[in-house]
Amino acid sequence: MPRLTLSTVSKRFDDFQAVDGVSLTIPDGAFLALLGPSGSGKTTVLRLIAGLEVPDGGEILFDETIVAGHGAFLPPEKRGIGMVFQSYALWPTMTVRGNIEFGLKVGGLKPRERAARIEEVLKVVGLAGLGDRRPHELSGGQRQRVALARSLATRPNLILLDEPLANLDAHLREAMLAEFRRIHSLTGSTFVFVTHDQDEAMAVATHVAVMDHGRLEQLATPEELYRKPASPMVARFIGRGRTLPVRVLKSEGGRTRVMLGQQLLDMPGNAPVGYGWLCFHASDLKRVNEGGHLKTELVGQVFQNGSLLSHCLPTEIDGDVVSLPLDERIAPGTPIELVITDGWVIGEGRGTHSNGDVTRRSSTCRPGVISLR
Ligand SMILES: Nc1ncnc2c1ncn2[C@@H]1O[C@H](COP(=O)(O)OP(=O)(O)OP(=O)(O)O)[C@@H](O)[C@H]1O
Ligand SMILES: [Mg+2]
Repeated sequence: MPRLTLSTVSKRFDDFQAVDGVSLTIPDGAFLALLGPSGSGKTTVLRLIAGLEVPDGGEILFDETIVAGHGAFLPPEKRGIGMVFQSYALWPTMTVRGNIEFGLKVGGLKPRERAARIEEVLKVVGLAGLGDRRPHELSGGQRQRVALARSLATRPNLILLDEPLANLDAHLREAMLAEFRRIHSLTGSTFVFVTHDQDEAMAVATHVAVMDHGRLEQLATPEELYRKPASPMVARFIGRGRTLPVRVLKSEGGRTRVMLGQQLLDMPGNAPVGYGWLCFHASDLKRVNEGGHLKTELVGQVFQNGSLLSHCLPTEIDGDVVSLPLDERIAPGTPIELVITDGWVIGEGRGTHSNGDVTRRSSTCRPGVISLR
């Protein structure tokens, strides 16, 4: 299986920079989720890896082999990859077997080998016995499995999936995610899975790459993304996180001392002294009667997951609304004091201190090559 490396890969469409200096390395057999808002460049990165787009700059390597960049370009059919798209792209008039066989014929496999390979992959995706059906005789989930079986049949080193579950209902999506995990561990292939659904990414991936505006914000394990976001964008994007502006007074050994408004707090973090962000989730907030770190005013409540998700606007600092589950109905405008029990402090980095706008970028905080082994 090849290790996949992107080194300062860029792609521009006319005057639009769709992918902007993305560098990452993932180990063999990883399950990488490319996660980010719509238009952040996920599909373009996938197409660059597949060889369906040519980068303007940078290199793409499978192990030590340059497949794109430095004047080299290996065409898609020579890259040993399988692709699965949102739309399945099955041939409607062919049977399941015919759909899978198509790629094997192109690959020059003999009829007997093809038949054996088809039975093997149908078993892997849980469709043994359905080889003679046509796509319209299958459910959405079964069709998606055929698409996956077709891409697995050629035994690719790398499987690229672009929002493969977007057409399925929530229940089926969950079942298919579990299937993808199972098939990933069974085949040992490297999977790159594009999604804009963070729950999907966090549930299935060994590594998650968060993209925004064509750039890589962070590459990390799901747990690390949640607990130690590297930028305000990641902190807000993952787990419905919140950020509040702080002054970092001291930073040592993974702990920081910060000023949040007039409150002094000790929090985990790695921010340098100066302006920074305290990142946290709803589960890190606790309501108290007095002596809270954050004075707020209730602005609204919605019933969610068996409790009232309560939105509170800070009154003494210029910060965004924070939310936490409460048990009782409270009138809007009621003062609420909150203790922040845990969080993660990061440097100012890219972002602003006002309204969640992350367009202001500091060149000193550009992520360099991020590598996980
Ligand atoms: N062939 C193209 N020509 C011009 N612009 C393009 C082309 N392909 C993509 N783009 C632009 O590049 C940006 C990134 O597109 P891309 O499809 O990679 O985003 P994405 O993260 O996959 O979004 P989504 O979640 O909506 O699928 C978008 O602004 C898109 O309009
Ligand atoms: Mg896309």
